[in-house]
Amino acid sequence: VHSVVVKDSAEGSLAIAQEIADLIREKQAKGENCVLGLATGSSPVKVYDELVRMHKNEGLSFANVITFNLDEYYPMDKEAAQSYWFFMHDHLFNHVDIKPENVNIPDGTLPVEEIRAYGLRYEDKIEAAGGLDFQLLGIGRTGHIGFNEPGSAVNSRTRLITLDHITRVDAAKDFGGIDNVPRKAVTMGVGTILKAKRIVLMAWGQGKSPIVKETVEGEISSSVPATFLQKHENTTFVLDPSASAELK
Ligand code: F6R
Repeated sequence: VHSVVVKDSAEGSLAIAQEIADLIREKQAKGENCVLGLATGSSPVKVYDELVRMHKNEGLSFANVITFNLDEYYPMDKEAAQSYWFFMHDHLFNHVDIKPENVNIPDGTLPVEEIRAYGLRYEDKIEAAGGLDFQLLGIGRTGHIGFNEPGSAVNSRTRLITLDHITRVDAAKDFGGIDNVPRKAVTMGVGTILKAKRIVLMAWGQGKSPIVKETVEGEISSSVPATFLQKHENTTFVLDPSASAELK
């Protein structure tokens, strides 16, 4: 894993958006689709703001872009204010020219007995699109990527998981209290993420500095699933000074 420390999250977000835009344009020039794995939460907000700006002011088109989001709470209606479906439309998809049929977000509305087969279909769809060209990641304080909480295997695939208590505490403000935070989520697996050709993980703020240290310098282990990124040969961590503060 290669770490880059940027001046602040604004500067880091612009650099990440620029990399994504360059990739979209490079693929466009070759007549190819660009397959993006996308994250929600607070970390990527400025990346999406910048991509929207580039669409509006610089003619960046998403006509050749296919997206796969990492995760969704379970159960969760699409239209709920806390849904990742709503987040993605609100921050990105409603403001760019992506084809609605090219947007894929794990479905939080399925009967529980259908999720296994759904997860396999999600994986097949990524493969059929040509695999993830680029995967954007945040990191949770538990060391989750997507919602792969501690205990997730390196070869895990899209599936239903139980959210860690710390993750639910961190989500409580968005739900008006921890009791309203769903206990489960549907998430791409660690194995799904590691197949991406390129991975960029963002971490902003002091709250992330202990887990960033463990992820970059710790032993590779399912107790900190983000450590599996150490096995991926084309991953960059983009960190602000606070998130990188504990690194050697
Ligand atoms: C979101 C996701 C999560 C978040 C992580 C950090 O789709 O997969 O892994 O990236 O929980 O969340 P924030 O950015 O809100 O600190």
